Amino acid sequence: MSFRLRLIVLSALAVAAAISLVSGTVYVLVHNQLYNEFNRTLRDRYAQAVAFPFSTTAQKPGCYWNISEPTATGVGGYFQRIEVLRNNKMTRQTVGLPEGEHIPVTAQERLVALNKADAFSHDTTVLGKRIRVYTKNVPPNCALQVARPLSDVTLPLKRLAVVLSVVSLGGIALAAVLGWAIAGTALRPVRHLTEASEHVARTRDLSGRIEARGRDELARLASAFNTMLEALDISLRSQRQLVADASHELRTPLTTAKTNVDVLRRTELPKEERDAILRDVGQQIDELAVLVTDIVDLARGVEPNLEVEEVRLDLLVEQAVGRARRLSPRNVFALDLEPCLVKGVPSRLERAVANLLDNACKWSPPDAEIEVAVKDGTVGVRDHGQGIDDEDLPFVFDRFYRAPSARALPGSGLGLAIVRQVAESHGGQVTVERPSDGGALLSIVLPCLDESWRSPYGAAD
Ligand SMILES: Nc1ncnc2c1ncn2[C@@H]1O[C@H](COP(=O)(O)OP(=O)(O)OP(=O)(O)O)[C@@H](O)[C@H]1O
Ligand SMILES: [Mg+2]
Repeated sequence: MSFRLRLIVLSALAVAAAISLVSGTVYVLVHNQLYNEFNRTLRDRYAQAVAFPFSTTAQKPGCYWNISEPTATGVGGYFQRIEVLRNNKMTRQTVGLPEGEHIPVTAQERLVALNKADAFSHDTTVLGKRIRVYTKNVPPNCALQVARPLSDVTLPLKRLAVVLSVVSLGGIALAAVLGWAIAGTALRPVRHLTEASEHVARTRDLSGRIEARGRDELARLASAFNTMLEALDISLRSQRQLVADASHELRTPLTTAKTNVDVLRRTELPKEERDAILRDVGQQIDELAVLVTDIVDLARGVEPNLEVEEVRLDLLVEQAVGRARRLSPRNVFALDLEPCLVKGVPSRLERAVANLLDNACKWSPPDAEIEVAVKDGTVGVRDHGQGIDDEDLPFVFDRFYRAPSARALPGSGLGLAIVRQVAESHGGQVTVERPSDGGALLSIVLPCLDESWRSPYGAAD
């Protein structure tokens, strides 16, 4: 069953429930009202009949009977006088029914006539018609029965039931039609959303967007969908770009290595030349390995669900500097590390810091200090090398970008791209500065966690 049909059925059911409740209540109220009224008229007619002390047709004093035939028939009712004689015989006189027809009399009516039972009402059948009979004593030994056909009540009730049914069915049909129209309008954005999703699934084209008008839930859904499409689009484009860049960057060292291997295979070379080519090939393979690791790292950066934990940034940087010292013993490091806690993926943060240190080592003169500082979530690495030219500053974080002056040095230009990716994926950013007294200052700025964790003595354990 489609969602639209379900909405229509639900709205029709809701209206049906409401209408049934109202109709049922109306019917019960009118039913009770009519029957109360009906019973009251029986008692009123009895009271009218016995109110007059004289009767044109009174058989005996005491047994009043002043309801004339036209009165009885005029109100559409029947009257019957019962009298129980001394010999226990019973006489009865009926008005409103054809000659010889009577209202059936049972032992109960006799008891009422003898004033041994209270007045009561009951239903019976006369001439095939259901009637209600009210029987009450008239002293000394009579009873007056006042009756009316029940159709006086059942017919209007039947008519009411028909009217209520028609109105209810009409209401339900109207609710279904309105539900259909409303569902169509309300579900239009959902339809657009579905069409857009189907279009994406069919064509893999993420450039389409849905119109998100207003501020309601569906508009928010549409704008969330657009945001998702945009994020997917950016991610897909960056993945494609990465693959394109990577294949371009890999091609050169691969071609060189292949050429070298071909030379080795085809020509007889003196041993020294052969060793030199083999060294070259080894170096190219090492570079390729580093490049592949970097590319994989960049691709992994967008990987979701990496384990995030609280990380002591100062300790992480200290360890990274320790490794850099071992790799590059000729460099001198000056540390200024303040305890600092951030949330992040330790392996990714280590990689980013290592890349900054690697650059500093690469460009720092051997005996110049490399200053490494950690403060309030910021890791700053400053060297006193040649620095970065103004025209290169905007591009140093781009993938595969290397300043012309750096192209003689080993590297692929992915180091700082990884740094930026790590910083941004941790909700931070990267900055690069040209200090006035030379060198380069590169920083990772991360959101620092609440400092209340620190020990009261200031130093963290
Ligand atoms: N400390 C620095 N001093 C001078 N130039 C720098 C420094 N750090 C980065 N650069 C410039 O920014 C460019 C990009 O740096 P990045 O770390 O991305 O690449 P790389 O170091 O050349 O190669 P890789 O890091 O992939 O081995 C460098 O090629 C260099 O031109
Ligand atoms: Mg680098």
